Amino acid sequence: PTSHAFANAPDTDFSIAAKRDRALAAIQTVRQQLGQTYLPLVNGQRVNTLEVIESVNPSNPSEVVGKVGLLSIEQAEGAIAAAKAAFPAWKNTPATERAAILRRAADLMEQRRAELCAWMVLETGKVLGQADPEVSEAIDFCRYYADEMERLDAGVNFDVVGETNRYHYQPRGISLIISPWNFPLAIPTGMTVASLVAGNCTLLKPAETSSVIAAKLAEILIEAGVPAGVFQYIPSKGSTVGAHLVKHPDVHMITFTGSQEVGCRIYAEAAILKPGQRHLKRVVAEMGGKNAIIVDESADLDQAVQGVVYSAFGYSGQKCSACSRVIVLEPIYDTFVNRLIEAAKSLHVGIAESPDTKVGPVIDAQAQNRIKAYIEKGKEEATLALEMPAPDNGYFVGPTIFTNVSPNAKIAQEEIFGPVLAVIKATTFDEAMDIANGTLYALTGGIYSRTPSHLDRAKAEFEVGNLYINRHITGAIVARQPFGGFKLSGVGSKAGGPDYLLQFLEPRHISENI
Ligand code: NAD
Ligand code: ALA
Repeated sequence: PTSHAFANAPDTDFSIAAKRDRALAAIQTVRQQLGQTYLPLVNGQRVNTLEVIESVNPSNPSEVVGKVGLLSIEQAEGAIAAAKAAFPAWKNTPATERAAILRRAADLMEQRRAELCAWMVLETGKVLGQADPEVSEAIDFCRYYADEMERLDAGVNFDVVGETNRYHYQPRGISLIISPWNFPLAIPTGMTVASLVAGNCTLLKPAETSSVIAAKLAEILIEAGVPAGVFQYIPSKGSTVGAHLVKHPDVHMITFTGSQEVGCRIYAEAAILKPGQRHLKRVVAEMGGKNAIIVDESADLDQAVQGVVYSAFGYSGQKCSACSRVIVLEPIYDTFVNRLIEAAKSLHVGIAESPDTKVGPVIDAQAQNRIKAYIEKGKEEATLALEMPAPDNGYFVGPTIFTNVSPNAKIAQEEIFGPVLAVIKATTFDEAMDIANGTLYALTGGIYSRTPSHLDRAKAEFEVGNLYINRHITGAIVARQPFGGFKLSGVGSKAGGPDYLLQFLEPRHISENI
């Protein structure tokens, strides 16, 4: 295999008091800016909207983080027209110039790191220790895709005597990005800058609950130099405007990250040829997971307990990569479960901005109700081993652990997207592998073991896009752990990896007799 050297942006070291203080001060500065209105950006202009929604702080829902203007279907038509008009010039802008804009955006994000973290803490309830690596990831996406575009732009020569054979890439055209709220900066940044640097005119439709952070990303891209019409920020309702744009005959590609239900619908809708449409659409869909960690009898239990707790309860389990099933071999089951429960009990549940907090709120009331309904279901299906108390004010759910869970139970099969962990007992390693692979998803997975034959089998047979051995299973790093799944976890190549940009490009070949 070839190796690739890429310098990742370092995270902030919060053990240094001055850095911690700076981050906490930034939260207070951002708090002074709450409640402002963020309008869609169409063809370089802010447009007034009929509908405005409030985005609130999930730790304290009475605090309005921002008011967001939602684009209408008619206004979305204007954005498509602007993108079409801007495309020829952007397509012909040299790749090095497009890459330079991404590198400027990365530098601006680094300058605004503490502020961007503060917006994430306040709008999405992410604790600082989780928000800061997300800024690093967004910066890495900009710098890595800039490098990647320059690499691909060189093309390939297949010349022979008397004939040149030149292989090169061109952009696809109008590109729609639909992003989730759970990585409110890194995921929209990655999808958007990949699309832009490849030469596509790009419309970003963020999730409704994280549209203020997406507005900050929009500010950065504009300041970095993306021309009007080439990038447009279009906060809007997914079920109406999002769905309309997915079906739009002028859209060439859709890059989606979100739930399986919506991803499958987009995949199907995009396949239908509309009147006037002259191309087939490309869909990249990154969807959910029901990720498992296997802990066998040879595992280092100190490592395993810590890794499972971090993977299951970090950002309240609201990561597609989160561990929601732990499959434990019988000889160590009781010991592991006792230690797991004690470790989870030590997690501080509270408001996201508090430096003590390890588990903040979930994103909104709907998520809170859905997760609580799963907990009630779990009480019917399995043994409730831990249900931690959580503050009343705010959308909190305490870490919850169920033991003796059947592999086919609802809580062992469906993505809950909250701090709920199902512990499943296996009598043999074969059985553990079968249980691990027994869902519709294939995103992340992990194994804690010191048995070489078990590790070899996991490497060969664990059906996941990203397998982690003797470590936690969240927090993939750009150009180190390219990230993405298969089966019903998604379609497309891995974000932060060497194939990602190809999805945004059309290859062309020219042979010339000389
Ligand atoms: P979601 O599917 O509810 O929403 C995602 C986006 O789709 C939002 O912008 C939403 O407005 C839009 N949308 C909703 N209905 C639409 C429609 N009919 N047409 C077009 N767009 C529509 O997901 P979410 O709650 O924002 O995010 C959580 C989900 O995302 C989880 O399932 C999680 O596993 C998944 N996720 C996956 C990855 C990955 O890389 N695989 C990463 C992060 C999150
Ligand atoms: N890329 C994110 C992670 O690995 C989803 O946790």
